[in-house]
Parts: sequence; structure tokens; C-alpha cells
Amino acid sequence: MNEWLEPLTKSINGMPIHETVRDQLWVVPTFQCIHILAVAIVFSGSLIVALRALGIAGTYWTLSRWQQRFSPWTLVSLIVLLLSGAVLTLAEPERELLNSLFQIKMPLVVATTLLSYGIGRRFAYIPAGQSASIGLKLGAVLIFLLWAVIMGLGRWIAYAG
Ligand code: HEM
Repeated sequence: MNEWLEPLTKSINGMPIHETVRDQLWVVPTFQCIHILAVAIVFSGSLIVALRALGIAGTYWTLSRWQQRFSPWTLVSLIVLLLSGAVLTLAEPERELLNSLFQIKMPLVVATTLLSYGIGRRFAYIPAGQSASIGLKLGAVLIFLLWAVIMGLGRWIAYAG
């Protein structure tokens, strides 16, 4: 994969915006903070939905209602993650694009987003007063665990890969 990512890092290094983003000392820490805040929203939303699916918390609302409550926040946060992550990549393209943990993280983000969308839609079909099927419960927990893994991978990029 690095064969086509290396030329991409070189062309990013040649862009004037790369130097601007890298040399302005406030840019990277600011976008890291924005990234982490957006992570907190995606992660806490998935935790609450998983706890509701298991019937442990928030049972005064249906699972579908919880899903509807968090979906727009998750969507906006994922867009913010994409944009803030792109700024961090513009600042240090080799550190990100050539890092194997980053290369695992990105497809996992896409897969988890799709899974989250697919399973979230199915919550609407749970008959009123019934709890979620085992499959949907496991799905909600899996989504939460996948975001946790993605979070770990994001943090580890700084130390390994
Ligand atoms: C949507 C696309 C995303 C892109 C393009 C992206 C990109 C990045 C980049 C470039 C970094 C900096 C890594 C470094 O150099 O140390 C980073 C850090 C991180 N990312 Fe993402 N990311 C995305 C989504 C996510 C998601 C969905 C999560 C978790 C739910 C996440 C969690 C993290 C965490 C925890 C860090 C470490 C932040 C820090 O300690 O400074 N990212 N991400």
C-alpha cells in the first residue's frame, strides 16, 4: 500500500498549505483537541445506545428514540473527525499515511460507520414494548467496542506503527 501512499505524502509535502499547517504552532494542538472532543461524542453516544440495547440504562426511551437522538450528533462528529484528521495529516503526512496503525484505523472507521448506520436503522423495527433481539444487542455492543479499538489505534499512532 505504501507504494502509492509514498508519492501522496511527497505531493502533500510540496503543497504550501502543508508548511502553513506545520509551522503555525497552534494548528496541530487545536485540531487535536477538536478531534478528541468529536471522539468523545461518537464514543459516548455508542455507549449509551449499547447500554440501552442491553436494557441496562435509559429504558424510559425506546432504542429507536435513543438512536434518533444520537444519530445527527454522530454524523456531525464523524465529519468533524474527517476534517480535523485531514488537517493533522496535512501537517505530518508521513507520520499518518505511512503508519500501519493509521492504515488499519481508516478502513475500520468506514466499516464501523456503515455497520452503525445499518444496525441503527433496524432499531426502528423493534415492536413497541419488546427488547432488542440478541443479534441487535450484540451489534450495538460490537459498534461500541469497534469505536473503542479505533480510539486506541488513533492514540497509538504517536508511539507505534
Ligand atoms: C473520520 C476519519 C478520521 C481521520 C482522518 C482521523 C485521523 C487522525 C489523525 C491524523 C490523528 C493523529 C495521530 C497522531 O499523529 O498521533 C488522529 C488521532 C486520533 N484519532 Fe482519529 N481520525 C479519524 C477518525 C477517528 C475516530 C472515528 C476516532 C474514534 C472514535 C478517532 C480517534 C482518534 C484518537 C483517540 C486520536 C489520538 C488523539 C491524540 O491523542 O492526540 N479518530 N486521528
